[in-house]
Amino acid sequence: MFPNTRLRRLRENSILRRMVEENSIEIEDFIYPIFIDENIKNKKEINSMPGIYRFSIDELSNEISELEELGIKAVLLFGIPTCKDERASSAHDKNGIIQRSIRKIKDESDILIFADLCMCEYTSHGHCGIVSDGRILNDSTLEIYQKIALSYAESGVDVIAPSGMMDGQVKAIREILDKNGYEYLPIMAYSAKYSSSLYSPFRDAADSAPKFGDRKTYQMNYSNSREAMREIELDVIEGADIIMVKPALFYLDIIRMARDNFKLPIAAYNVSGEYSMIKAASKAGYIDERSAVEEILISIKRAGADIIITYHAKEFARWKMEGY
Ligand code: PBG
Ligand code: ZN
Repeated sequence: MFPNTRLRRLRENSILRRMVEENSIEIEDFIYPIFIDENIKNKKEINSMPGIYRFSIDELSNEISELEELGIKAVLLFGIPTCKDERASSAHDKNGIIQRSIRKIKDESDILIFADLCMCEYTSHGHCGIVSDGRILNDSTLEIYQKIALSYAESGVDVIAPSGMMDGQVKAIREILDKNGYEYLPIMAYSAKYSSSLYSPFRDAADSAPKFGDRKTYQMNYSNSREAMREIELDVIEGADIIMVKPALFYLDIIRMARDNFKLPIAAYNVSGEYSMIKAASKAGYIDERSAVEEILISIKRAGADIIITYHAKEFARWKMEGY
């Protein structure tokens, strides 16, 4: 019935192997996250994320030119402000850390700027929204998100990325942008964002851990996959331009499901904990970092993502330049 089929024939020669490869990674697919800390003068390595730093605003120029030399075309900005309060006022300050960073990067380079839009780095309680009687209020949070969105737009951001998982956040942001003449500014929605243990290195990095409770009343329960399709569907209806699944590795099934169900571009966030695990295991000598990272990034593409947000971007680009 299958008289002569031998799949090993196409694996024999490395040129042929490469030719019939179904997926590959381009540096252009990457978005590189950057932490900018208003409280520091000199860059500071994040303990739980070797190779990843908090930068001061003055050090941004160097970092951005390094990224451009490596061929990295896009960054995702996170800010650590000097002042935190109950209502995240510094998140929509015209001279806030992100607003100033956007203007500076725009002045000096052509790199594409995505900015994360949330409140947790800016609130004294560390939650992603307005807190009242221990609850995270949805609709009054949306009003703050609108102010942040407008201030990012006015500073010249290229793409807004709301990550707070409030219901209706994409609609609220789309409305305020359109009303103010920013109808061409795209939204990359953190659509299916799970409540995950894999964010803890990030919370060290961004100083954004909740001071009480957890994020389970707004981020998704990791037992659910159909619900992720509902989240994405709503974001699509509300006007998202790019949808996101986060984290990536424990959620490759969700990326695949999203790919099969929606036509929009999909971003996958290869989060801090995924990065830290690889760093720790390779440092201990348990795995080879380069080959593990390549395998991971390909797995995210194979699952169906178009865009990968990853802390590995810089190193991967360097390896690629060296011809790994
Ligand atoms: C803020 C935000 C988080 C991440 C991105 N935006 C953390 C959180 O939800 O607590 C996580 C990114 C990472 O772990 O790399 N809402
Ligand atoms: Zn948040």
